[in-house]
Parts: sequence; structure tokens; C-alpha cells
Amino acid sequence: MTFAHHKGGTGKTTSCLSIAGCLQKKGDKVLVIDCDPQANATSGLGINPDSQEKNIYDVFMNVFEGFPDVSLKDIITETPSGIYLAPSSLDLVGVEPYLYSINERASLLKNAIKPVLSEYKYILIDTPPSMGQFVINGIVAADRIVLTLDSSIFARNGLESLNCIFSDIKEITGRSRSADMAILTRAGALCERKAPFEEMRLAFWHMITGKGTDDDEKARQNSIEEEIKAKIKEVCTVPYDSEVYRAQTEGMPLAYISPESPAAVKYNEISEIIARWK
Ligand SMILES: Nc1ncnc2c1ncn2[C@@H]1O[C@H](COP(=O)(O)OP(=O)(O)O)[C@@H](O)[C@H]1O
Ligand SMILES: [Mg+2]
Repeated sequence: MTFAHHKGGTGKTTSCLSIAGCLQKKGDKVLVIDCDPQANATSGLGINPDSQEKNIYDVFMNVFEGFPDVSLKDIITETPSGIYLAPSSLDLVGVEPYLYSINERASLLKNAIKPVLSEYKYILIDTPPSMGQFVINGIVAADRIVLTLDSSIFARNGLESLNCIFSDIKEITGRSRSADMAILTRAGALCERKAPFEEMRLAFWHMITGKGTDDDEKARQNSIEEEIKAKIKEVCTVPYDSEVYRAQTEGMPLAYISPESPAAVKYNEISEIIARWK
């Protein structure tokens, strides 16, 4: 399962780790592959990205001559929650320029996963926020794609940029892909999260029309949700929840830190939907 790219949105790593935590708590063997140089999934599982001798960088570089022979199995480590992790680090940034020199660049991760596929019930891939080879590798490797979108007016851009990736993938692999699920995160935090320009525009709108900006905002959100639902079968909403931040800083999935918190309850429902996918 890949947690795919979005633009102007957020909550991908949080969704990936929260869902991994719920699935792991049910007793399934779960592997998280961190494919983002920012390594938030790695630190979010309690592992210091700089503490690992080898990481996903080495797995990608393995295909190039003169680099050490490192497989995915060699870098996987068990984290405090019991979730297995293929860690990342900032090194990963160095991989991308190399990738352009080879034809099979889109399927490196897929090939690396093959030998460990049967060992895990779920493999979750966290990808970076910006479109690029790691997002494409994640999507090519995955059977299922989960798209996370911030519940804001920017959600629309998320869908557009994802569609661009899907057309790239179709071109590369000849296979048509779309998202299996969209998670709208941080619902209810709209007013806090507006971009300054948007805030100004809404205030201006309020001035001329006399209409309440909050109602206006809610109507916009509903119309965006409708639009997403028309394109993606499963659409789930996760509320704004400060416990998410606490889980992140403590390096444990939300299901372990605060299982009764509103976001944890939602992620548990989501993981039940995902568990029925298999
Ligand atoms: N449901 C939520 N409630 C509150 N904060 C959230 C929620 N989801 C994500 N966040 C916060 O938003 C920030 C970005 O989330 P993250 O999952 O790292 O996004 P991404 O991986 O897409 O960049 C983090 O600081 C995280 O704590
Ligand atoms: Mg992230």
C-alpha cells in the first residue's frame, strides 16, 4: 500500500504510521518502508535516521555498479511498537540523479520488495510530498494507493497533481492506476490552516457580500468532498487532533499513545476497511 503524493496537503506520514499501528495491534506483521528523505516515518517509529548504518538509500544504489550489495532485508529493523521498518535518511536525496541513467528506474522498489513480500501481511510505503521518482516507485510497487489530502481548498490541487503522476505511470508501465482511498485529514482545522492570501480573499468576499466566511468555507469543503467522492470510491475523514503531534514526538503510532483520541478512532475504522481489502 502506498501513501501517495499530494500537493498543498499534509498528513501522509501520520496516516501511514497510524494505520500501520492499528494493523500491527491486531496482530498482523507490518512493514513500513520510508521512501522520503525527510525520514519522518523513521523518526515517527522511534528510530533516529542517523543511527542506522544502512538505509533505503543503499537499497536503491545497489543496482548501480561500484555500490555495495544491500537488499531490503538487510536494512529492515524492528521498532519499539513491533512494526518493522525499512528506514530512510537524508542520503536518499542523492539517489534521484542516478536514477535518470537507467530504464528500469520506476520499478526499483517493486523489485526490492519481491523477496520479502511473503513475510509481511501489510507493507506500507511512505513517499515524499513532491512529485518525483520515489512517488512513482511507491505507486508502481503497490497494489493499493491511499491518497491523503488536507481538508482545505488545496485538496483540489492534490487531485490534479496525482492525476499527472498517474498519467506518467501509465506511460512508463502501460498500466492505468487510480487511488483506492482518499483520507481527508485535519478536518475542522480549516480556519487555522488558511493561507494568508486565501484568508484575505475571504475577508474581502465577506466585506462585499456580507456573507459569513465560515459558511462559505464549509460550502467549499462540501463541494470538494463531493468532487473527491466522484473520483475515489473510499473517502474517509480524520479530525484535527493534537494527540497526533504527541505520538509523533514520542516515536510511537497513535494507536499505542492515545487509542481513544478522535483521530485514533478514525484511523482504526480506516484500518478495518483496509483489512477487508485483502
Ligand atoms: N489529524 C491531525 N491532527 C492534527 N495534526 C495533524 C493531523 N495529521 C497530521 N498532522 C500534523 O501535520 C503535520 C504534517 O503531517 P505529516 O503526516 O507529517 O504530513 P506529510 O507526511 O504528508 O508531510 C505534522 O506536524 C502532524 O503532526
Ligand atoms: Mg511525510
